Amino acid sequence: MPIHFNETTKEFHLQNDGLSYIFTIIKNRQLGHLYFGKRIHHRESFQHLFKTQARAGMSNVYEGDLEFSLDIIKQEYPAYGTGDYREPAFHLLQEDGSRTTQFEYISHEIINGKPGLIGLPATYTEEDEEASTLIVTLKDTLIEAEIELLYTVYETRNVITRSVRFLNKGEQRLQLTRSLSANVDMFDADFEMLQLSGSWSRERHVKSRELISGIQSISSTRGTSSTQQNPFLVLKRKSADEHQGEVFGFNLVYSGNFLAQVEVDHYDTARVSMGINPFDFNWLLGPGEVFQAPEVVMVYSSEGLNGMSQEFHSLYRERLVRGYWRDKERPVLVNNWEATYFDFNEEKLLNIAKESKELGIELFVLDDGWFGKRDDDTTSLGDWYADRTKLPNGIEGISRKITDLGMKFGLWFEPEMVNKQSDLYEQHPDWIIQVKGRNNSHGRNQYVLDFSRKEVVDNLYKQMAAVLSSSPISYVKWDMNRYMTEVGSLALPAERQSEVAHRYILGVYDLYERLTSEFPYVLFESCASGGARFDPGMLYYAPQTWTSDDTDAIERLKIQYGTSMAYPLSSMGAHVSDIPNHQVQRLTGLEMRGDVSLFGMFGYELDITKMSREEKEEVKQQVSVYKENRRLIQNGTFYRLLSPFDENGNYVSWMVVSNDQKEALVGYYKILAEPNPGFKKLLLKGLDRNKEYAIEGRQWSYFGDELMNAGLMLDNEYSGSTKPQEEKLGDFRSRIYKLKEIDK
Ligand code: DGJ
Repeated sequence: MPIHFNETTKEFHLQNDGLSYIFTIIKNRQLGHLYFGKRIHHRESFQHLFKTQARAGMSNVYEGDLEFSLDIIKQEYPAYGTGDYREPAFHLLQEDGSRTTQFEYISHEIINGKPGLIGLPATYTEEDEEASTLIVTLKDTLIEAEIELLYTVYETRNVITRSVRFLNKGEQRLQLTRSLSANVDMFDADFEMLQLSGSWSRERHVKSRELISGIQSISSTRGTSSTQQNPFLVLKRKSADEHQGEVFGFNLVYSGNFLAQVEVDHYDTARVSMGINPFDFNWLLGPGEVFQAPEVVMVYSSEGLNGMSQEFHSLYRERLVRGYWRDKERPVLVNNWEATYFDFNEEKLLNIAKESKELGIELFVLDDGWFGKRDDDTTSLGDWYADRTKLPNGIEGISRKITDLGMKFGLWFEPEMVNKQSDLYEQHPDWIIQVKGRNNSHGRNQYVLDFSRKEVVDNLYKQMAAVLSSSPISYVKWDMNRYMTEVGSLALPAERQSEVAHRYILGVYDLYERLTSEFPYVLFESCASGGARFDPGMLYYAPQTWTSDDTDAIERLKIQYGTSMAYPLSSMGAHVSDIPNHQVQRLTGLEMRGDVSLFGMFGYELDITKMSREEKEEVKQQVSVYKENRRLIQNGTFYRLLSPFDENGNYVSWMVVSNDQKEALVGYYKILAEPNPGFKKLLLKGLDRNKEYAIEGRQWSYFGDELMNAGLMLDNEYSGSTKPQEEKLGDFRSRIYKLKEIDK
């Protein structure tokens, strides 16, 4: 039983082979935090871990007691206004104007398995034995409101998930102005905080800083999780690195505005909080209503950042992504966006498809520009029917011609958006997110549909379902190309205007849920100008995300490396594109581009018909290498070896090892050539020390322990030899090493 409750000491201990998480009911019947970290033995009492003490300047709860102060006590779900001056986990405005509450423990329940969240994505279990869930109920009797804190501990994963429900069982109209999903008061602040930050085209770069006194936070107010900051935060010990040391990872399963912060207080403890961004959020919780806050996934690793990432990866691959495509090999695709942009007709598309098919590509994806009268980005979003001047036989015609070639067909949508030049906008100008009497800002000439309204979601469902059911469509790319402005809904009363951003996300999840249930064999790939909504919330519905609009191989090294901190290779769309690269104009060889994309969900984003015969041969080869290795890439254990974010980030490397450790694939990348450098080797990871591995293209075989300790000696062309392989010299070069256990 991984959850213990001690009746006498009122302690909860969530425990599995890797971690322990312990808290207790304290004197004021709130919850005090005792420990989160590596597994420790269970014992009859952990009260010695609870510390409080009389200190000058403290506010105390009870008369005659100078010790019990919330200022110094570590807590599970801290409230505002009773002596704890750190930022609280929630804030509840009552009808009399008070924000002071007194939520006290009243009961708890321990159940097998993991309950779903109301209207929100979450990790799940398939068998009840996989996890246990503790639900602790706190009650404020004055206002008859309850808070349910849910904790799930997985048996065999170093993961705890948390979420929160607010229940208004009284008569008052309560206002939730803050309702975070988790709060963890760490014992000390001796950590670095690592985050994934960026912008369009340079998403999820790894940044870190030492914690210092005060609040350090990342957040989004853009209506999506955003490229600027990802809803992901890591606390790592300063001595920890990729391969060893203590690391705590936190990831919010949510696709909208979020807050992730660490507050270091005057006693040098670190309070981690995560949840929906309280900025511009106010949820009216009427009598009888329930508010569900999203889930936080918390990972503990004593094996460095790679150990943490591997926990996130396997959890997301196996117990977040759902449905038919979860365990299926993903198709190699060709997407026409960078090949044609808006300028195509049926013939052009079919030519690309035909040649792609000959090279082994399995799925043709028709991107933006197929609907309404969309010849540029000023028009037609909202009108999801084919442009007959480009596609005289409609989607039905082109999709059938492509499937007749023996390929699958995929289609692009941007369901959440509308252009003013569209039938939909003409009929329903009130359906966009807007504030009456104010200007509507646009992004890329488009406006955000008000997905907080059911009739809007219904309309989009109807339009999309009609297209998907009329044609053989196996894949949908669901795009979302702008952030929110003038956030308001014409359908909601004044007092609910600050609910719009969250209601919008609930609407997006609702549409995803309906479409994925109605079309269970369609593979969904989410996208938001590339990676502006790369988060676990999306992965629950769409197993893949378009990692970035930046397809340059060198930029992708950073983007894919950073993304892998939290997200598995099976979630990262990675395509080979044309040169000069459309985002940065860089020239890199086809080999380098292929070798970077190999570590993701592979495809092409260029006009195959314009390639030379030699290039096509190379593409054919790349596709076949990918197919041989895709199971390994999709399901294997991923290790980052050399970081592009290191001071000398000129060499980048990563590898993936099969679960039976019989094979592995290593990617090694050189950014700029160096004159006459020293010899280099790679210390591989994750192999079986006793297995003997052959490496394709090499004469010798090597034991796992040699490759992991003495290392894999790299070829001399990297180090100024006199007889180098010409093609390996120069900037932007790569090598792939395939390891296979030798059958004896
Ligand atoms: C942004 C996406 O990230 C691109 O891949 C492409 O689909 C365009 N939108 C189309 O408008």
